[in-house]
Amino acid sequence: MLATRMAKSAASIVLIGLLVGCAERVENDQASAAPEATSVPIVPAPREVARGAGTLGISKNVALTYSDVEARKTAEYFAALLKRTTGIAPTIASEGTSQTASVRFTLDRDNATPEGAYTLAITHSGVSVSASTPAGLFYGAVTLWQLFTASVQSAEIVELPLLTIDDEPRFEWRGLMIDSARHFQTIDELKQIVDAMALHKMNVLHWHLTDDQSWRLEIKKYPKLTSVGAWRVPAGAAPAADIDPATGKPRLYGGFYTQEQARELVAYAAERHITVVPEIEMPGHASAAIAAYPELAVFPETNARVPADWGIYENLFNVEESTFAFLEDVLTEAMSVFPGEYIHVGGDEAVKKQWESSPRVKARMKEFGVKNTHELQSYFIQRMEKFLNRHDRRLIGWDEILEGGLAPNATVMSWRGIEGAVAAATAGHDTVLSPWPILYFDNRPLDTANPPGRGRVISVEDVYRFDPMPAALTEDQRKHVLGVQANVWTEHIRTAERLQYMVLPRLAALAEIAWSSPERIDWESFSARLPEQYMRYEQLGLRYANPKLVVPARGAYRSSHQLALCSDKLPLALEDDAPVQGERAVFFVDIMQPCWIYKDATIGASTSLRASVGQVPFNFQIGDSRKEIPLRRPATPAGELEVRLDSCEGQPIAVIPLASAVDNQAVTQLPAAALGNHSGTHDLCFAFTQHDLDPTWVIESVELIDAGAE
Ligand code: ACM
Repeated sequence: MLATRMAKSAASIVLIGLLVGCAERVENDQASAAPEATSVPIVPAPREVARGAGTLGISKNVALTYSDVEARKTAEYFAALLKRTTGIAPTIASEGTSQTASVRFTLDRDNATPEGAYTLAITHSGVSVSASTPAGLFYGAVTLWQLFTASVQSAEIVELPLLTIDDEPRFEWRGLMIDSARHFQTIDELKQIVDAMALHKMNVLHWHLTDDQSWRLEIKKYPKLTSVGAWRVPAGAAPAADIDPATGKPRLYGGFYTQEQARELVAYAAERHITVVPEIEMPGHASAAIAAYPELAVFPETNARVPADWGIYENLFNVEESTFAFLEDVLTEAMSVFPGEYIHVGGDEAVKKQWESSPRVKARMKEFGVKNTHELQSYFIQRMEKFLNRHDRRLIGWDEILEGGLAPNATVMSWRGIEGAVAAATAGHDTVLSPWPILYFDNRPLDTANPPGRGRVISVEDVYRFDPMPAALTEDQRKHVLGVQANVWTEHIRTAERLQYMVLPRLAALAEIAWSSPERIDWESFSARLPEQYMRYEQLGLRYANPKLVVPARGAYRSSHQLALCSDKLPLALEDDAPVQGERAVFFVDIMQPCWIYKDATIGASTSLRASVGQVPFNFQIGDSRKEIPLRRPATPAGELEVRLDSCEGQPIAVIPLASAVDNQAVTQLPAAALGNHSGTHDLCFAFTQHDLDPTWVIESVELIDAGAE
């Protein structure tokens, strides 16, 4: 669509100058009409809009002028964006050189306004974007771009509404976290996310760079962090059988960012007024670092591999002086790449089992004067904070850093609900809200079969309705809420296209609750502005979760996501591990109870069932919860698919052997099975029998076939 639009408009560009005369008469340029703030097609909704009557016609070779070098950058960004998305090709000139200026970018540093604030005025005499900070001017340009792209305008003249917008952000931290550890994105793919963020006035990219499954940032002093730690054999039989001819071993998955590449992303983001906050995880989520340098471990194990399971590993860094020195070296290099104020040190999900069972760690605890392992984690984080503070940086960590005592200057990122934020703000600490599950964009945005993700649906409306200010806080405590952030964990997000789909359009909802004042929050208005936003995504070539993708169940065919799960403990939309190349099936499954229900199935004496099944690796570190997963005893060595009537404890009405599927790593259609002499409307329960948890058998789809109709 973009290509055709650009081609069309490029072909028709002619020099016709500014067509102020085409604008209709303004009846009330300064009309004060605050409620109109949400009626202009701008996301996030601006604070104040005074709408005039009529429009200003702008020609396709409109001239842009700027007040100084910084304003010129914004003018150039705006021109490139406009050209890319609309085909309009403005000319750029410094102020005073153009007689027919139609869009002026003015940076007025003496005019003290809040960081990020701007004024956009569209009048008879042209368009003016002004701000006292470069960020504000940039946001004004984004707003103006949205007005240009609010509808498809193929004529020579783009009609902009006459109006004045006074806008400023509600929160200073408008964040998105991308997990580059579980799956790797290229710098170009990350730039696309940064571009999308900028066009939503988001300003913090939290970059999750290290985890159990990989270490992604080059650290020159410790090259094995990336030569070893950035690579793993993916879980499952199919990747294990995918032999790399160069090594004779299974092909490795991975990648890392050189410091130069990371700096390139930082600079790209900075041009868009986005700060990159790197996350270096400690003391947990450390398996990849430990695989690279076993001496960092509590229980060093030689030849430890970078693991490929999801979930929580018990591996923690040990608490030797040499390990603290290692971490300080790592942070020193990270600080040289990331100039922003904040460094994120993780701190989440550090299971204390290894620390508790190590006599050496116990001896160190005595030396440090700490009584328990929570206090040890607090000691650990406080040491890191002192180090960062000495280098004029601030520490931020997940809300577990509250346990055992918060480091004196730490900022808390609240993910286990908003309680961490309330505790932090109450104690006088800054905080960012990014609560699970509502701001976890790895949850599926729509109830579709594809792409994979966490199974729970968190819709754009769910995100929009999240209140980013905890009601429990006093006026003073509220000042500690820096803002909100969504997190995209990528265990189940393997490609850049899927990443975009998980982010958009939920990012638009997040942006509005992060930017717009509470009086502007209005779901009806926001959802009415979404179609224009979708159109912009299409102009930008971005994938997004379009509600039109939801296809209702038809006939007697149900893919796994159209079946009910027997519980909702850990619903996942899991991708098959096979084939290694090409399209893979996605299975909706609760790995704690892999069991599906076809509700209200209409069956008769001649009904048979055709099921397609897959097998996925059980690659989840879930500790002792593993024991809670029920295993149904098989009757044959390969196991069976059982179909039970009315409930999962009901009578088995079909038992279909899996023998034909065991040697197929991808999806297998099992032989059709008769359902016996039953009729009427029944729930049908599907579950597998098997000896072992690994692999987990899964339903891909089932179909009821009426033999009479065949
Ligand atoms: C987290 O989701 N473990 C921060």
